[in-house]
Amino acid sequence: MSFPEYRPRRLRRTPAIRRLARETHLVPSQLVLPLFVREGLSEQVPIGSMPGVVQHSLDSLRRVVAEAAAARIGGVMLFGVPESRDAVGSGADDPNGILNVATETVISEVGDALVVQTDLCLDEFTDHGHCGVLAADGTVDNDATLERYTAMGLAQARAGSAMLGLSGMMDGQVGAVRQALDAEGFTDTLILAYSAKYAGAFYGPFREAVDSQLKGDRRTYQLDPGNGREGVREALLDVEEGADVVMVKPALPYLDVLADVRAAVDVPVWAYQVSGEYAMIEAAAAHGWIDRRGAVLESLLGIRRAGADAILTYWALEASHWLRADL
Ligand code: PBG
Repeated sequence: MSFPEYRPRRLRRTPAIRRLARETHLVPSQLVLPLFVREGLSEQVPIGSMPGVVQHSLDSLRRVVAEAAAARIGGVMLFGVPESRDAVGSGADDPNGILNVATETVISEVGDALVVQTDLCLDEFTDHGHCGVLAADGTVDNDATLERYTAMGLAQARAGSAMLGLSGMMDGQVGAVRQALDAEGFTDTLILAYSAKYAGAFYGPFREAVDSQLKGDRRTYQLDPGNGREGVREALLDVEEGADVVMVKPALPYLDVLADVRAAVDVPVWAYQVSGEYAMIEAAAAHGWIDRRGAVLESLLGIRRAGADAILTYWALEASHWLRADL
């Protein structure tokens, strides 16, 4: 029997060799924690389909961002859940709207210690649950929505958001918001473009988290799950329009898109490990069917390996503690 000269197992023999030979690393500064804050709450409320994740009150939000700053994770991404909604999402650009108030609250607590990011999309604020405003025929009106996004972006920048997460998948949204920010002097406000955001089943638990009013789906604006090249094209367009960071979302079902986008652009590429990805691992772990800590860290490492420079994940805080303990 012939035997290979080269023995790959040499690099796996001891924990010290494996640590030294590891190609991909995961550190707390690469993790961003999404947070939900609901108007009118006096204390936090659990989200049934996302065990361990809550809708925050302004007080509990203050506490968790202080914890996130102490853990030195990369940042937080804020989502607002308003008490009342309307057709155009008026709460989104109201300085007294929940997301803008929450942003001010967070900035007053942590300042620049965390990169404080805000979701820039209308779906949490509209009574129909779509990411934009509707035309008379019921379709989402792209260009009318851009006007709402620029107003929302300016309100978020005024509230102190360091980075706007444009998650609505309207054509031209990055260019429109960049232009509006620059015209008002917000030249330092960063834009995170959710460039390749796929329409699919993995956002289910999020809809509970934000009390979504959506009936139907988002297939006329989010990408078709079969389309990888189109995801790359969207990322290239967003870079051209001025995106500082581009993102692929969801993460695990789209690792090929992540790798292709990474190869195609020279700005940072992030991934969003979404609510459904979170719920799957939590549910299997709750049954004792999977090792929770192992599965969480392996999923994050896999997303990094595929090309993500940073990851939005509901496990950001807990994973940061595990990663420190492993050092
Ligand atoms: C839109 C938005 C969504 C998510 C983040 N931003 C919902 C959607 O597109 O339907 C989903 C995140 C998750 O599922 O964890 N504001």
